[in-house]
Amino acid sequence: MANLHMSSLLLFVIVVVLSSSSLVSSSSLKVGFYKSSCPSAEDIVRKAVHKAVSANPRIAAGLIRMHFHDCFVRGCDGSVLIESTPGNIAERDHPANNPSLRGFEVIEEAKAQIEAVCPQTVSCADIVAFAARDSAYNVGGINYNVPAGRRDGRVSIMGEIQGNLPPPFFNTEQNIELFGRKGLSVDEMVTLSGAHSIGVSHCSSFSNRLYSFNATHPQDPSMDPTFVEMLKTKCPPPSNNINNGGFSDPTVSLEASTPNRLDNRYYSGLENHRGVLTSDQTLYESKLTRQMVAHNAKDGSTWAYKFAKAMVHMGSIEVLSGSQGEIRKRCGAIN
Ligand code: HEM
Ligand SMILES: *[C@@H]1O[C@H](CO)[C@@H](O)[C@H](O)[C@H]1NC(C)=O
Repeated sequence: MANLHMSSLLLFVIVVVLSSSSLVSSSSLKVGFYKSSCPSAEDIVRKAVHKAVSANPRIAAGLIRMHFHDCFVRGCDGSVLIESTPGNIAERDHPANNPSLRGFEVIEEAKAQIEAVCPQTVSCADIVAFAARDSAYNVGGINYNVPAGRRDGRVSIMGEIQGNLPPPFFNTEQNIELFGRKGLSVDEMVTLSGAHSIGVSHCSSFSNRLYSFNATHPQDPSMDPTFVEMLKTKCPPPSNNINNGGFSDPTVSLEASTPNRLDNRYYSGLENHRGVLTSDQTLYESKLTRQMVAHNAKDGSTWAYKFAKAMVHMGSIEVLSGSQGEIRKRCGAIN
């Protein structure tokens, strides 16, 4: 009798703990969070993104990537926006972000406009999440509601990039493990990688695949040889950099057929062995994910739907809520 009582009590406790922890991880965010406290917030971000992306479509890639880099390091808390200070090198200055991460000025501009109408009400972390959505809409026609209510973190440390952001040479198995630690499924990892349908990569992120793959193969055999030749015309061998009196690191499109359009061409590119990064091409080479690549290549509207859903899920990773953290006055610095 006592045992029965104990076990039902235990069951009760487990149920409560489970349901409250799922509250913290996802339902603490709400669509329309600023509806009464700052009704113009999402409009301001939408307009700032539209203006920036119309002037330079590549900003959209920067803003989508920024949300990813924010959420994978200390959760979606705006930590990627914090500038280094004397005595602390911030995430922003890790080579994974500096100089390649783009769009900081768009976030800061939207934040300034929002502060003018609703001081210290809208978090920078939410502005990044809105801006990623608005970017996906501008360059991909992909629209979705963004649950909001994230609070801004007060910590950003360069050393926390390693182990949390995947380097370009990660293969599918390594990315499955890393995304899994963030609570994202294999299919979500494959789906979100479709963001590489837009934007660019520096040659240094993949030039080993062109010149120094391994002891027996100078070129990665999983890359189309004509594609290798084309990339070699754009990316000089690492040793040639010295000839130009310094380090030159050009960029190439991650998806060359529609480089400014967020669509599912990325996946047919992988089927044609035209993935630029190892993390891209191994999605097709691995039997764990090849079918997913094929499905996404075939059905663009299902991919777009899954992309929106996965962005929302990614946007809920380890968020701060309630009275945790703060609402920054300026996104580049803690209050
Ligand atoms: C799966 C593991 C991933 C790896 C290893 C990876 C790595 C990279 C690398 C190395 C670059 C090029 C940086 C440079 O050299 O300039 C890049 C660019 C980019 N990444 Fe990823 N990424 C991954 C997943 C994602 C995800 C999940 C998203 C967003 C949902 C994303 C969005 C982007 C975008 C949009 C760009 C282009 C940026 C620009 O043109 O400014 N990536 N990524
Ligand atoms: C080089 O890579 C190829 C293709 O992945 C592989 O078959 C070969 O065994 C590798 N060689 C060495 C020395 O690792």
